[in-house]
Amino acid sequence: MNNIEMCFFGIDELTDYEMEQFTEEALFAQDVLLNKRGPGAEFTGWVDLPVNYDKEEFARIKKAAEKIRSDSKALVVCGIGGSYLGAAAALDFLKGGMYNLKCADGSDLQIFFAGNNMNATYIKTILDLVKDKDFSLNVISKSGTTMETSISFRIFRKALEDKYGKEEAAERIYATTDKEKGALKTLADKEGYETFVVPDDIGGRYSVLTAVGLLPIAAAGCDIDQLMEGAAAMREELTSMAEEKEDDEELIVSDVVGYAALRQQLYSWDKFIEIFESYDPDLKMFSEWLKQLFGESEGKDGYGIFPASLTFTTDLHSMGQMIQDGERNIFETIIEIKPTKDVLGIPAFEEDFDGFKYLEGKNVDWLNLQAMAGTCQAHSDGDVPQILFRVPERSEFYLGQLFYFFEYACGISAYVEGVNPFNQPGVETYKKNIKEILAKYKK
Ligand code: PA5
Repeated sequence: MNNIEMCFFGIDELTDYEMEQFTEEALFAQDVLLNKRGPGAEFTGWVDLPVNYDKEEFARIKKAAEKIRSDSKALVVCGIGGSYLGAAAALDFLKGGMYNLKCADGSDLQIFFAGNNMNATYIKTILDLVKDKDFSLNVISKSGTTMETSISFRIFRKALEDKYGKEEAAERIYATTDKEKGALKTLADKEGYETFVVPDDIGGRYSVLTAVGLLPIAAAGCDIDQLMEGAAAMREELTSMAEEKEDDEELIVSDVVGYAALRQQLYSWDKFIEIFESYDPDLKMFSEWLKQLFGESEGKDGYGIFPASLTFTTDLHSMGQMIQDGERNIFETIIEIKPTKDVLGIPAFEEDFDGFKYLEGKNVDWLNLQAMAGTCQAHSDGDVPQILFRVPERSEFYLGQLFYFFEYACGISAYVEGVNPFNQPGVETYKKNIKEILAKYKK
């Protein structure tokens, strides 16, 4: 089977000595991660998750997904941050960003993400889109007390209860939350909602391969067995290379260690913005997931590479100038998915009205690849280091590999930086402040 390949461009001045220094630090950080010796080690359950998950719950997830697919035309998922980004990334990646439009005729389940903002128009639009259809609700919150999620949940719970009555509504509500504590768990037990668990040892942004991501992904009809298998294959590759360490005095460095080392090397050169890029709009949400993963894990104690994201060629026409010619403080991490077949050819006309007649008959994806080659060259010339991941195909298996690879890379990189990758004190501060501001309205 083909693997995800990593290569880089525009990093010529890297000396062996410098690279070795960061590589050794990354290898050490990997050891710390795998042996649970670092800060936040109690939240590293995701490391073994692909081979060590609750099989009974996994079967229940598949069953619930089947039920949702059979009794609903839409699923509303209420969650924010780590409680929605993984599923949203997966659905766009696997089904295409326009999947809801494709099945608006009722041919498949539509999935809407609410609970990730407090904009009335956004929430009302989803409400209007689902209210005349059979729909179900998956509320996801580890803490059970996140305001955005709770507010949307109230709105859609009310809509469900008004439509079906309390009893049937309860059969259409699925709660993914802490296994025993919190407001949502208490309510779910009282109302008889089916519940799924966010494990104690896995934080929000590392939870896509738990019920948090798996239920919406399975409900969309995607193959979650393959997703887990992909993650397990990547885990096997990375952890077995971690055990080998040295061979004939040469360091054995997996791509994940190489990537983590390189990011920190670039950061030490004041490249403090990492732009996650792809040439495929269906990867936009995957980049959002990456931004949260790295941003919340590394942005601490006055340190951290700032994660940004762009989709090309679209954003070359807005941000291309800045990348090519602005302050030299950025590097790019590009994800390329190999196009599998010729999807769309460029049509022929008699006259050459736009000067592009010579491209007639070529595939649009081929053209996209040429644009990528030209852009990579231009950005190398503009002194922008680039790290490229080539993914052999767009499938559940490779998505599982990608999720696992970047979680693992993030854990190592944050340890090299010297911060706890698994807490989020800054997010907690905002949550606490908003509740304090609202406290005066309590009766
Ligand atoms: O990664 C994280 O921990 C956060 O982004 C949380 O996922 C987010 O704040 C939502 O929290 P909860 O699942 O408790 O509602």
